[in-house]
Amino acid sequence: MRILSGMQPSGNPHLGNYLGAMRQHVAMQDVKCAQCYYFIANYHALTTLRDGPTLREKTRELAMDYLALGLDPNRVAFFRQSDVPEVTELAWILDTVTPMGLLERAHAWKDAKHKGKKGETVGLFNYPVLMAADILIYQSDVVPVGQDQKQHVEIARDIAIAFNNIYGETFKMPDVQIKKEVATVPGTDGQKMSKSYGNVIEIFATADLLKKQVFSIKTDSKGVAEPKDPTTCIPLILLAHLLEKNAAAELEKNVASGGVGYAELKTKLFETLLEYFGEAREKRLELEQKPDFVEDVLLAGAKKARKLARETLDEVRRKSGL
Ligand code: ADP
Ligand code: TRP
Repeated sequence: MRILSGMQPSGNPHLGNYLGAMRQHVAMQDVKCAQCYYFIANYHALTTLRDGPTLREKTRELAMDYLALGLDPNRVAFFRQSDVPEVTELAWILDTVTPMGLLERAHAWKDAKHKGKKGETVGLFNYPVLMAADILIYQSDVVPVGQDQKQHVEIARDIAIAFNNIYGETFKMPDVQIKKEVATVPGTDGQKMSKSYGNVIEIFATADLLKKQVFSIKTDSKGVAEPKDPTTCIPLILLAHLLEKNAAAELEKNVASGGVGYAELKTKLFETLLEYFGEAREKRLELEQKPDFVEDVLLAGAKKARKLARETLDEVRRKSGL
């Protein structure tokens, strides 16, 4: 079973990224018979980040974040998307079998159009085709992501079907994998936590910033003694994903029956975050001192990924007459 996922280096990873995607990515390296391919989607990031040194730095930082969170380069292929340029050639070929209408219906594109002209480039319109190329070039079976990426994986399936219908069976059909309870992790304002909404809790933020972000979580004006709804209480929802099952259930019960205040919950969330990510935060500091190691990991991952990508691309070129 081949597992593949990517993440853009467009900002600092937040709790939504971690719970919805990165935690699954790291956990899946332990699954027997799974071959994991994870990459930093720097080609995709060009659609929003247009500053060379910043993109390079953000890419390096995301690599350190993943490694600090426990990604083991001996068990997964971990690489930069742009170190496998074959993927852009495949994206072009897929462009030629992709109906315009399929991309016009993509939520991300529709959102960009609604927000006005700024981000409305051909690259952004084409974003799902490059993502389909990422998924299909490695003949991926499973794509673990958060809910917001579901439609993109469905588009990849549609593009695979279109190509296979024209040129014969070539691409495997990928399945999206979304963990229900963390499909859409709420941010500090209650909307989906997202780098673009400024409502994040960054997992590697300094303790001061982390505290500020946690204490900015929106709550209602219920007093300490009042019973609260555990399904809408954001600090509790976030905490529950980080605590042991029994501890989370106990806390939910106490919140529902009254007696637990928001300040107490936020303090507990802040402390739990520091503890939960304590080891990762230390490892992250160590990795800062080892830039060569990080670079070597990415290059070795790319070598492994590129071999596989080349095989698929050669078959595609042969079948399409290139
Ligand atoms: P952002 O919306 O912050 O820009 P990305 O698009 O870079 O996040 O997402 C990286 C990965 O994290 C994707 O798999 C995405 O589905 C997942 N993800 C992002 N935000 C959330 C969230 N709030 N809840 C669950 N998963 C999320
Ligand atoms: N679009 C994804 C995101 O913003 C990143 C991504 C690029 C990706 N290519 C991918 C995710 C292939 C899964 C598979 O989060």
